[in-house]
Amino acid sequence: MKVFVAGATGALGRALVPQLLARGHEVVGMTRSASKQDLVRSLGARPVVADALDPDAVAQVASAEPEVVVHQLTALSGPMSVRDARHLERSLAFTITNRLRTEATDHLLAAGRAVGARRFVAQSFGAWRFARTGGPVQTEAEPLDPDPPAALRPGLAAILHLEQAVTTIEWGEGLVLRYGSFYGPGTGISLAPDAVMAAPIRRRRFPIVGEGGGVWSHVHIEDAAAATAIAVERGQTGVYNVVDDEPAPVREWLPVLATALHAKPPRRVPRWLGRLAAGEMATVMMTEVRGASNDKAKRELGWRPRHASWRQGFAQGLG
Ligand SMILES: NC(=O)c1ccc[n+]([C@@H]2O[C@H](COP(=O)([O-])OP(=O)(O)OC[C@H]3O[C@@H](n4cnc5c(N)ncnc54)[C@H](OP(=O)(O)O)[C@@H]3O)[C@@H](O)[C@H]2O)c1
Repeated sequence: MKVFVAGATGALGRALVPQLLARGHEVVGMTRSASKQDLVRSLGARPVVADALDPDAVAQVASAEPEVVVHQLTALSGPMSVRDARHLERSLAFTITNRLRTEATDHLLAAGRAVGARRFVAQSFGAWRFARTGGPVQTEAEPLDPDPPAALRPGLAAILHLEQAVTTIEWGEGLVLRYGSFYGPGTGISLAPDAVMAAPIRRRRFPIVGEGGGVWSHVHIEDAAAATAIAVERGQTGVYNVVDDEPAPVREWLPVLATALHAKPPRRVPRWLGRLAAGEMATVMMTEVRGASNDKAKRELGWRPRHASWRQGFAQGLG
């Protein structure tokens, strides 16, 4: 099939394009920057240049007439400070990402519809969104947090817009993939010196807050890309959690990640101090959030993560 990947140069896009080609698809890869066309070519895709926030430009490049449109646009790969984490709603990365998840989603959907595409697969994010009640691991059917921390609200509203817009299209199948926290090459958790989340862990500035009971779901970037490549071909309209087999509390996975990054063990700080230093949202993430189940993706997509657990994944898959 002809597949149009918006965000072909991103962490996920770079892993996805080769997997799509290996499955026999033809790929058109969108970037905003003329200078990144060679990167798209080197991945094996045909580059097109457009700003996803410009509906006319998106319509024009989509005239490549893809059968499937894949939406992997975010602006989250830049550095993030503690101040950003305190006020996520004010950070530039999230302000732009929210526009990519709302306006750009609408532009891509309109373009896909206009050119007769029959499937749309979009990046979403599951962590931090589930209601903080019930069990530690939740399915796609379970409710979202009715009262999220204030700093998260605009971002969660943007993700919800994307999920609702994609899963209600009438011209084809609309699949939303709620990825876990990415790790592996090109992501915020990798061996690269500038990896956004690895850097504070190495400096011991990413402590376990309170009991560290917040449950996180991780996924290796190549496994996330593999699930996406399958979703291009298979699966039904709806939401899929794309996470590994072992959602786990921060107190379990963070020390293992620190070891894999050759860092000293994380410090521990009481909840009140965590809240004072990093704010409500970070404290909730460290102490209360719930993880996600991948049963549906395994059942309906036939996907199996190669890094079934972060335990092996952090040790073997960060480079
Ligand atoms: N995904 C999440 O929810 C999340 C959450 C927290 C942290 N992270 C971390 O952040 C990184 C995110 O990886 P990612 O693959 O999602 O993002 P990414 O690596 O930043 O890739 C973003 C993609 O979107 C494209 N893009 C952005 N704005 C665009 C615009 N206006 N028009 C056209 N294209 C545009 C970029 O293209 P060009 O630059 O080529 O134009 C690039 O291909 C990872 O390191 C991950 O660990 C992710």
